[in-house]
Amino acid sequence: MKTIATVLGARPQFIKAATITRAIRQTEGLREVLIHTGQHYDDNMSTVFFTDLMGQAPDHNLHISGGTHGAMTGRMLEAVEGVLSQVRPDMVLVYGDTNSTLAGALCAAKMHIPVAHVEAGLRSFNMKMPEEINRRLTDHCSDLLFTPTDTADRNLANEGIESGKVHRVGDVMYDASVHFGKQAAEKGELLASLGLKDRDYILATVHRQENTDHPDRLGSILDALAAIAKEIPVLLPLHPRTRAKISATGLDQLLSKLTCVEPLGYLQMVEAERSAVVIATDSGGVQKEAFFHKVPCVTLRDETEWVELLDSGWNRLVSPAQGSKAIQNAILSARGVAGAAVEPYGLGDASDRIAQVIRAYLA
Ligand code: UD1
Ligand code: UDP
Repeated sequence: MKTIATVLGARPQFIKAATITRAIRQTEGLREVLIHTGQHYDDNMSTVFFTDLMGQAPDHNLHISGGTHGAMTGRMLEAVEGVLSQVRPDMVLVYGDTNSTLAGALCAAKMHIPVAHVEAGLRSFNMKMPEEINRRLTDHCSDLLFTPTDTADRNLANEGIESGKVHRVGDVMYDASVHFGKQAAEKGELLASLGLKDRDYILATVHRQENTDHPDRLGSILDALAAIAKEIPVLLPLHPRTRAKISATGLDQLLSKLTCVEPLGYLQMVEAERSAVVIATDSGGVQKEAFFHKVPCVTLRDETEWVELLDSGWNRLVSPAQGSKAIQNAILSARGVAGAAVEPYGLGDASDRIAQVIRAYLA
């Protein structure tokens, strides 16, 4: 029996891990130990995903959150090392580009444990983003790099990463969307409870540091959403980071026009995404989910890693630096716009393919 230690800590990682954990459970000769760094800790940012999607709690929780990037990553590195010394896994599995990803990968590499990185090869080419630093360093210390797209493969080749390590499997978030989509439809109580109607509201999410930590950008986004809400309801599930920044910068009054709710569980979020007329977001995962549900998307950033959605017309960028009016126009004019018929993210079988590649690698 080979042991995989999965190191994860942030909301999107719980969602990405859900279908892979299932695939690992179904693969003979593999077992998994889940190590939660504690980076996200509220029930609605963490527990709900383990309960609804994983059907189990993490095996270890290191309770490390907050602080500067260096302090958080450093504390995680030390604590993950302690757990890996006890568990002695055959491989460490990490997801995406958070501080938990980097801590897990770096710790394993230093302990000479092979590293597998899911969602490898994404690049924004913006080194001011903490995520860009995390994903580059993680890719360069990984032994198996699971990529979602052609673009990701090209990015890795351009950085000189050996092609033999790279496995193009598709996007695990597509697997999650396919796998849990039906359950989300069966639940289906959210819209009614909020008084929202199908195709008659905008869904927005905002949490990126580059937006939340710049009052001008955050102010422009909220001002645009408040103006749009005079015409069509705006549903805003509010990330705790954003809520804290809104209070600190005195922007609370702009929330009064919005249907502002606590972070949603994944099944509720899928329901909210599916029925929206437009999704406006700075989230990586939500941009792709808009495409999975064929809802036009406006990305509130200067650039995106998911460039194939720009090329196919399902997504468009608006920089929050352009101000409130530009954001309003971009969102309102995206209504009814459909992109090309493309399938850049695989067939929804990425998780099974990942489990098989890991099994063969460890055999
Ligand atoms: C992190 C990731 C980001 C990812 C996002 C997903 C890094 C560098 N950033 O950003 O890439 O897109 O998660 O959501 O790893 N907080 C709570 N409760 C929680 C979690 C966070 O109150 O359960 C608050 C705390 O004040 C915390 C702040 O949010 O200090 C920021 O959390 P943190 O994990 O540092 O970064 P995110 O913005 O969530
Ligand atoms: N999500 C959720 N509830 C919310 C907001 C987002 O379940 O209130 C899900 C969303 O459907 C997607 C993932 O969280 O699967 C995206 O995570 P997030 O936006 O926090 O981070 P990113 O993808 O930008 O790293």
